[in-house]
Amino acid sequence: MAVDLSVKIGRLKLKNPVLTGSGTFGYGLEYEDFLDLEKLGGVVVKGISLKPKEGNPPPRICETPCGLLNSIGLQNVGIDRFYIEKLPLLKKSGCTVIVNILGDNFEEYVKISEVIRERGNVDGVEVNVSCPNVKSGGIHISKSPEAIKKLTKILRDTLKNIPLLIKLSPNVSDIVPYVKAVEDGGADGVTLSNTYVGIGIDIDTMKPKLSKIKGGLSGPAIKPLSQRIVFDTTTNCKISVVASGGIMNYIDALEYLALGAKAFEVGTANFVNPRISFNILENIRKYFMKKGIGSSGEFVGIFLKKNNLNYPAMED
Ligand SMILES: Cc1cc2nc3c(=O)[nH]c(=O)nc-3n(C[C@H](O)[C@H](O)[C@H](O)COP(=O)(O)O)c2cc1C
Repeated sequence: MAVDLSVKIGRLKLKNPVLTGSGTFGYGLEYEDFLDLEKLGGVVVKGISLKPKEGNPPPRICETPCGLLNSIGLQNVGIDRFYIEKLPLLKKSGCTVIVNILGDNFEEYVKISEVIRERGNVDGVEVNVSCPNVKSGGIHISKSPEAIKKLTKILRDTLKNIPLLIKLSPNVSDIVPYVKAVEDGGADGVTLSNTYVGIGIDIDTMKPKLSKIKGGLSGPAIKPLSQRIVFDTTTNCKISVVASGGIMNYIDALEYLALGAKAFEVGTANFVNPRISFNILENIRKYFMKKGIGSSGEFVGIFLKKNNLNYPAMED
């Protein structure tokens, strides 16, 4: 039985719903020699800013019982070096490339988007307005639906036809007004969501486990929280959702699809097993074959339909 795993997120077409999460798979190149990146739905690269960033001082990562706290601080090579050193090699592998971008202010988001529009050669842009680890990284924008709508509109205009995803922070009490702002601003999809702000302390040294004290929690611990955010969105909004949060295996991924996400990003799991995205992809294919499901479209939102829940995107 042939299974059609392709999905559409607005104008972004993916051969399957499996993406790598920004910051957890480098620039993709690190894995190019031993993984066939072309097989994935796409690679979302480490967040890129207009100028290179050194990131926060160490320690900037620590384990928690069921996840990871990080405070990397958006270390990256900047958009120029990305275009010269990283992108050509990544594109050579034939994979779909989504660039994750960040800025200190509106102007920087626009400038980096102008560079991308002019140099092209990417399949989509994911805008991080949600990094909890630096004053920049859009966190100030992420707290205001009006600012999100304004930024989305400007970037929609700037990027012309390049597919646009906005990645939101989960650190708000109700996600729906923020998602509606992204929808009204004209993005192709919304990525839900980034990490949850947390802290870790060491009671022997009485020092923080992260140099900046606070960091973003990711991994299995956040899956139920991020699934609630996806659920609130798919039962209230029409925009396509890309899920992110605690996906460690194909069952976690299928849960998100059943909740109405059209694609998903594998993040922290890459640090445990860099091949995990491929494993998830193969197991989803097997699951669909076993259950007689012919396409991703047939499965997306199935939990909402079976439980007669509100599902505004159903008719799409
Ligand atoms: C070490 C690390 C670095 C990250 N860097 C970025 C980043 O540069 N841009 C971004 O949008 N998200 C970044 N994230 C967030 C992930 O892409 C993902 O949204 C989040 O970790 C939740 O998914 P997970 O639980 O599967 O890891 C980072 C996460 C980790 C753990």
